[in-house]
Amino acid sequence: MSINNDGVLFDYSKNRIDEQALSLLIQVAKESKLEQMRDAMFAGEKINSTEDRAVLHTALRSSSSSAVMVDGKDIMPDINVELAKMSDFANSIRSGSYQVTGGKVTDVVNIGIGGSDLGPRMVTQSLRHFEGGPHLHFVANSDAADLDDIVERLDPSTTLFIVASKSFTTAETMLNARNAKLWVGNALGNDVGGHFCALSTNLEATQAFGISNDRTFGFWDWVGGRFSIWSAIGLSLMISIGPEDFKKFLGGASSADQHFLNAPLNKNIPVIMALLGVWYRNIMGYPVQAVMPYDSRMSRFPAWLQQLDMESNGKSVLKSNEQTTIDTGPIIFGEVGTNGQHAFYQLIHQGTTIIPCDFLLAASGHGGKENRNMLISNCLAQTEALMNGRTLEEANGNPHRVFEGNRPSNTFLYEEVTPHTLGMLMAFYEHKVFAQGVLWGINSFDQWGVELGKELVHNIEPMLENGNELSAQNSSTQGLLDAINAMKKAS
Ligand code: F6P
Repeated sequence: MSINNDGVLFDYSKNRIDEQALSLLIQVAKESKLEQMRDAMFAGEKINSTEDRAVLHTALRSSSSSAVMVDGKDIMPDINVELAKMSDFANSIRSGSYQVTGGKVTDVVNIGIGGSDLGPRMVTQSLRHFEGGPHLHFVANSDAADLDDIVERLDPSTTLFIVASKSFTTAETMLNARNAKLWVGNALGNDVGGHFCALSTNLEATQAFGISNDRTFGFWDWVGGRFSIWSAIGLSLMISIGPEDFKKFLGGASSADQHFLNAPLNKNIPVIMALLGVWYRNIMGYPVQAVMPYDSRMSRFPAWLQQLDMESNGKSVLKSNEQTTIDTGPIIFGEVGTNGQHAFYQLIHQGTTIIPCDFLLAASGHGGKENRNMLISNCLAQTEALMNGRTLEEANGNPHRVFEGNRPSNTFLYEEVTPHTLGMLMAFYEHKVFAQGVLWGINSFDQWGVELGKELVHNIEPMLENGNELSAQNSSTQGLLDAINAMKKAS
């Protein structure tokens, strides 16, 4: 029960499953037409049915010379043009040939949220040992503290802002971008265009914001936000690690793509991940899935995975428009090891909810032998304790010290965290999420569930402005608004 692909070992030998159950699950995958759906995705068919869009993040990392057609047009030339434009820009920033008011760029601030933040932030942080350019910072929240706490340490004359937004309408991002422009403008005067660049599919809006086309990097509607790090949204990462290593990152993902396309289902890492997830969610009834990277720099991996998995598969309506009758996407959470061990692993070992876990582990990494061996042995000790547990007899009759065991986990093992390895790991998770969406019959590529809250903001914001003149549509929200209006300090 382990599969190796290109230096990444997926070990699933600590699961509550046997060969017979697995082969039945493979049958389910075949009957769900997983292979046909996978091929349709890679071929550019409009499998995102509710938005009538193709799903082609895989084309962004393809090294093949074959055409990929969308609406009768080969998209590969445009992808390559944009990648070359990004590489030139990243190189010019890293070398200092791109000059801002104060000369060479020392700090880059990526302003974006969701997919325009989580992927670039997580990967840039995870690959800090590959960093070679200016310092990277990330701002997402509309809480002003997010931007303020970063810019207070920066020199506006050597800072470059990347406004990353597929739509270029996301309220938080546009507010932060306007505030960043004010911050630079107040310090340097009004002509601050050179301190800003944009990553977006909405060129009209980037121009209206005052960012010229030569500093705007585009992508396309067939790139979903949470799958967009492989596109121009990866510019911050490229500036940090350099275009060559960015290509290796794409290459790692491409290796996972080829594996997903070509490996038989019973030896296919994302397919096995997906089937185990379905087994636990739908047959065993476990609602949660945890992910534990034993790597401090990968602390944002769980947050990245939360968006990928929960925004994709947290759905109740099937592609056929009917309500689902079975459970879909699990709750994802996680924390780096060993920190999590001293916090919530208690529940994973002895709680009443069984939580399947993924452990991510590098054989080599930061620091010397003592740190490394402690990290590795802790990770293996946890997976063993979860699997084997401890009997009442072994616990000398003390029921509080009994571990029932049989608690499932997978372990991803690799030599070290490199752009190639991380790209591959991320793509495995992307394909797992896609495969589960197919098995559940849902569209993993839309996100209508985020819209209602955004709409209600437009009703509520004016009530904060105008005090008691407007009223909420329900007494609960009204009560909170009254309390807020009474408590808040005049600004
Ligand atoms: O609100 C959800 C969402 O649309 C995500 O799917 C997306 O990654 C994020 O907002 C940011 O969107 P944008 O890149 O258009 O600013």
